[in-house]
Amino acid sequence: MKQVVLRHAIDHKPRAADFELIEAERPDCPDSGVLVKLSHISMDPYVGSRLRGRHMGEAPPQAGVEAIPGHGVGEVVESRSETHAVGDVAYVMEAGWREFAAVPADGARKIDPEGLDRSVFLSSLGMPGLTAWAGMTQLAGVGEGDMVLVDAAAGAVGGCVGQIARARGAAEVYGIAGGAEKCALVERSYGFDACFDYKAEGWADQLAARVAGRLSVHFENVSTDMLTLALSNFKPYGRAVLCGLAAQYHADAPPAGIPTGLIIGKRAKLHGLVVYDFYDRWDRFMDEVAPLVRSGALTIAEDRAEGLEAAPAVFERLMDGANVGKALVAL
Ligand SMILES: NC(=O)c1ccc[n+]([C@@H]2O[C@H](COP(=O)([O-])OP(=O)(O)OC[C@H]3O[C@@H](n4cnc5c(N)ncnc54)[C@H](OP(=O)(O)O)[C@@H]3O)[C@@H](O)[C@H]2O)c1
Repeated sequence: MKQVVLRHAIDHKPRAADFELIEAERPDCPDSGVLVKLSHISMDPYVGSRLRGRHMGEAPPQAGVEAIPGHGVGEVVESRSETHAVGDVAYVMEAGWREFAAVPADGARKIDPEGLDRSVFLSSLGMPGLTAWAGMTQLAGVGEGDMVLVDAAAGAVGGCVGQIARARGAAEVYGIAGGAEKCALVERSYGFDACFDYKAEGWADQLAARVAGRLSVHFENVSTDMLTLALSNFKPYGRAVLCGLAAQYHADAPPAGIPTGLIIGKRAKLHGLVVYDFYDRWDRFMDEVAPLVRSGALTIAEDRAEGLEAAPAVFERLMDGANVGKALVAL
């Protein structure tokens, strides 16, 4: 089978040239487990840190040998488990950038893709959607009357944050994204009230003119600088969810500190979010978000390519923040 591996150990922002496609032995179906033929694999920012040994203490994959880690969706082609049958479609956390994944049965979560593209289960109905749902509903407790801001708003997490907040009754939902194309997507397809392009002149003043002193919820995906800007527009007792620092994962210098004075002045509450803590609430997430996706009330664009050999280039785009929507590869 084909799989993508690291060409060499790295300690820099991953580039496409750091990867290679190799031919590897197709794994056997494990005892009590399943063999899944993957149809889609997910490209996620945390993998860039993981490849450098900087994610949650997890070791990087061995260069030249182990597949790049990542979530995937596929079909069970062999089963030695009573819970899974050949033909079942499953979401696999430990899928990897390869054609087949051999995993324990509880590592292959059965899904019902009827009427949906399976790729949705890597996006709004996968780990990014769960992250957004957890932040909005379990941590920030977003509801009627809230005014919400999120950055990296065109991505899967950011796009779900705004749309879930809206479905929960938020009064106004704002995004920040890099470039006119992303902002148009956020406003027209995702239905945010406005999106501010941080690459355009005067954007922070325009944001303040719209929301200053009224923001009640912020979801941070990008940097402590963005968090500071959001906090400065907070009303008292706002809630911020700290989810990611996409602009800082591969920076040479350490990030700016968090703005303690602002947090005190705004009486703000900050929650750190790690999606792993919410995997046991997956069913609740699906019960709430799947109807939104099925009805078309929640959509996420895809930055998609075909074929495993395209994975390194898609990943390089993600590492550069050039992806428009959920980065993934269809095999
Ligand atoms: N805490 C958790 O458990 C958890 C779980 C899942 C994801 N996350 C985090 O959630 C965030 C969004 O994830 P996602 O999967 O939906 O990704 P994404 O938003 O599709 O991609 C990351 C985005 O970050 C923005 N960005 C800003 N500065 C960047 C830079 N210097 N380099 C690269 N990207 C930059 C880019 O959008 P713009 O051009 O619009 O700025 C880029 O498209 C990430 O920070 C991710 O690590 C955290």
